[in-house]
Amino acid sequence: MKRSEDLIAKQGATSDTFQEVLARRIARRSFLKGALLATPLLIMRPDQFSKHLANAAEGDGLNFKSIRLDNRDRILVAEDYRADVLIRWGDPVFRDSPAFNPLTQSKLSQEHQFGYNCDFVSYLPLPYGSNNSIQGLLWVNHEYTNEKIMFPNYDIQNPTQTQVDVGIAAHGASVVEIRRRASNDWQVINSSLHNRRITGETEMEFTGPAAGDALMKVSYDTTGRRVRGMFNNCGGGTTPWGTVLTCEENFNQYFANRNGLADGPIKTNHTRYGVGSSVSGLPASRSERGWEIFHDRFDLTKDPNEPFRFGWVVEVDPYDPTFVPKKRTALGRLKHEAATTVVATDGRVVVYTGDDERFEYMYKFVTSGKYNSSNRAANFGLLDQGTLYVAKFNDNGTGQWLPLVHGQGNLVAPTFISQAEVLINTRFAADAVGGTKMDRPEDIEINPVNGKLYCAMTNNTSRGIGSNPAVNGVNPRTGNRHGHIIEIAEDSNNPASLSFTWEIFLLCGNPATQPVDSPAPTLGAEATYFGGFDPSKVSAISSPDNITFDRKGNLWIATDGQPTTFGMNDGIFAVPVEGQNRGFLRQFFSGVIGGEVASLRFGALDQSLFITIQHPGEPGTGPNSANSSFETPTSVWPDGNTPPRPSVVVVTKQVGKGSPVVGS
Ligand code: FEO
Ligand code: CA
Ligand code: CA
Ligand code: CA
Repeated sequence: MKRSEDLIAKQGATSDTFQEVLARRIARRSFLKGALLATPLLIMRPDQFSKHLANAAEGDGLNFKSIRLDNRDRILVAEDYRADVLIRWGDPVFRDSPAFNPLTQSKLSQEHQFGYNCDFVSYLPLPYGSNNSIQGLLWVNHEYTNEKIMFPNYDIQNPTQTQVDVGIAAHGASVVEIRRRASNDWQVINSSLHNRRITGETEMEFTGPAAGDALMKVSYDTTGRRVRGMFNNCGGGTTPWGTVLTCEENFNQYFANRNGLADGPIKTNHTRYGVGSSVSGLPASRSERGWEIFHDRFDLTKDPNEPFRFGWVVEVDPYDPTFVPKKRTALGRLKHEAATTVVATDGRVVVYTGDDERFEYMYKFVTSGKYNSSNRAANFGLLDQGTLYVAKFNDNGTGQWLPLVHGQGNLVAPTFISQAEVLINTRFAADAVGGTKMDRPEDIEINPVNGKLYCAMTNNTSRGIGSNPAVNGVNPRTGNRHGHIIEIAEDSNNPASLSFTWEIFLLCGNPATQPVDSPAPTLGAEATYFGGFDPSKVSAISSPDNITFDRKGNLWIATDGQPTTFGMNDGIFAVPVEGQNRGFLRQFFSGVIGGEVASLRFGALDQSLFITIQHPGEPGTGPNSANSSFETPTSVWPDGNTPPRPSVVVVTKQVGKGSPVVGS
């Protein structure tokens, strides 16, 4: 019997206590004893973390010696590897780009330079369809901007138009060609005709059911089919046909003045998505960056529909620098995190995506049409027709994908008058059909070896607290501040299945802390679980965020939150998911002060690992960071002087050019 079937078969349907059900969901192995205990909240000193620096056993290829959590302003990587900065905020993207000068920034220069806060990174080999490990395109999202550490003497009360326009231009994405030289390092090719900057002003199109809907029309686009720019592109993915899916996440923060709107459905929607909320310390009519001061479309009282045109998955062909980006509305409007594509058994295409906010949902989209492997162009409209589903997790380890289809169930008039409105109001549709509210669903990725889905729940300190939703089987910790990872097997191992089984793979935290009993029947915030592996041998980890797999099927995890939970820098951790070392998690890489490790992707043949370091020196991220500014930043990485610069880092083997990062 398959593992999950075995678990279900052994289970009594009605007589189990919650804790028994939970224990069965995570107690696949016998190491559970001692792993499910809670400890008080505390910030750890470096010497309080596990001192085990174990080497891996053979088989999974993870032969590195683990490193320790770090709190200095530097990157660290495991012995025998090198980590090099490949491209930084402000670096030239084109041959004629101006050199970076933080004192003379302009919209025009930023439009020709690498953008800010690099996030989703992907390596696309050149030429298309090859497996070239030394020449390819690098796609990088630019999620958001940190004006206080970007600009000298920045005054949040009175941003200048230059600062606003640089900020808009620093959003979006970059495509740059990169080549690996004989000396073993990677280089950006500024003269490549592939290179491109996409910004908050780049013309894009809507496609799919919501394109042209009345809610999508604004003063500068009365067709509801064209839009300027994409914002807060955080996670993403690539398709089997070589396009990038880049995901708009916290788009709400760019809009101002919700209180100036009349009560009604539009205001209700904007409230649910957090659009136009007031910002602490600023007038009620202000957004954080003040873009509405110079650009009317960000003022809700002038263009109340503009936010409906953000929060989508955007498809871009990185091999065609003239491609008009397409916002694929069939995939729903939410704070998208990840868009992981896989071809189902019958050839239809499935895209998994999460909505990264506390108590929001996980989704998947299944196309109506089938993937055409012999005609690339035939796939470019695939994502415009199909069905969007929201995940429902049952405490017994099963689950269903519930369709969000107008006319079915509760998705009917007068609340929803069309499929376009179901998609524009995806969160309300998911509420209406009864999806399961999760602990910040961030990345969802498919293991290329065992075919299972791994889903990172970054954290949710509100879970089970006060009047917030209580713990459930799949979100089992009260005040879940360290996050967890869920393992899902679609029924029949078919991504298009409408039912699945699941179990908890990791409950993150520091297993070296002193355990104390948690109040039954719930687990406290500090309870940990590592796939059944001996917790005394693993690295401490908090806030799993973005994940990927090497070719052997090991899970690689980047974190976003350790400065807050541990008082230590974020990092990268690797862990086998199968075999005797399932759950043997070790730290491979450490980031810098105030910066998350935002994304990680292997290049062709796993010879390089591309990593994005986002928001180094961010005000409010990590200890003593509230006053971090251009003048007094908490980080001066990577150049040793201000301003800190979000950058892409590439990790390779120190010896033996062309050796894979994993295995020999
Ligand atoms: Fe932009 Fe969900 O992190
Ligand atoms: Ca992210
Ligand atoms: Ca994140
Ligand atoms: Ca981030």
